[in-house]
Amino acid sequence: MKRFDDIDGWRRHRLALAETDIGFVPTMGALHEGHRSLVETAVARSSRTVVSLFVNPTQFDQPADLEAYPVDIANDLAKLEAWGVDDVLLPRFEALYPDGYRYRVSESSLSTRFCGAHRPGHFDGVLSVVMKLLNLVQPRRAYFGEKDWQQLALVRGMVSAFFMNVDIIACPTVREADGLALSSRNRRLDESQRTLAPEFHRVLENAPSAAAAREMLAKAGFEPDYVEDYEGRRLGAVHLGEVRLIDNVALEGAHD
Ligand code: PAJ
Repeated sequence: MKRFDDIDGWRRHRLALAETDIGFVPTMGALHEGHRSLVETAVARSSRTVVSLFVNPTQFDQPADLEAYPVDIANDLAKLEAWGVDDVLLPRFEALYPDGYRYRVSESSLSTRFCGAHRPGHFDGVLSVVMKLLNLVQPRRAYFGEKDWQQLALVRGMVSAFFMNVDIIACPTVREADGLALSSRNRRLDESQRTLAPEFHRVLENAPSAAAAREMLAKAGFEPDYVEDYEGRRLGAVHLGEVRLIDNVALEGAHD
């Protein structure tokens, strides 16, 4: 596995790869089984798999959330090697944002709803960094998790709006046995929060309506940001103490 900390070095390498069929998985590190399923799907389908590890500051609306974001590069690199990755990108902020984030990708409709309504600027940060990474890596396919449904929809929209030459592949949400969607933020839950957390998914699945789900979650001890039905999915975000969890499920009768 080759490691690139430097963008110029990566660009030289990419030029030499020419028409190689590349699968790309962008991540913020702190890798878990959810990331693993994306990477393994990419490895199985591509002749070369590239992963980026970059905790992207422009998508954090809360400085405290950025500070608390777990970083464990040595562990991440060992996992990526074991999963069969060929190239890892670890860019520095200054290298990835030579313009200091003067230029950015902005979406004006879906990005203002759901998570966007509670996290101003979040999706501009996501779309901008994904555009940069896709331009640098030039993959044939890029893999995103359904766990972040709104992110996936916005990335698809951007790729279509800007005629970007990449297929966006959606991968199903990986869950713990009790239904909790895997997330790097789960490790910040204390024992009693961890016991309560799977109730979030159960309620999304079983509540008769989005409004009922919000109520049931509040009663159970969550602080809901939103629960809403959108294009055949039920999307939700809740706070559990300091930790914000998001999840989504297919509505009954709807097809993925
Ligand atoms: P991160 O949270 O590290 O997630 C990287 C990818 O893994 C995303 O596509 C996400 O949807 C997927 N993922 C996370 N948890 C998952 C789970 N339990 N099951 C399936 N897939 C899961 O999402 C980001 O990073 C960033 O916003 C990024 C796209 C890298 C831009 O900075």
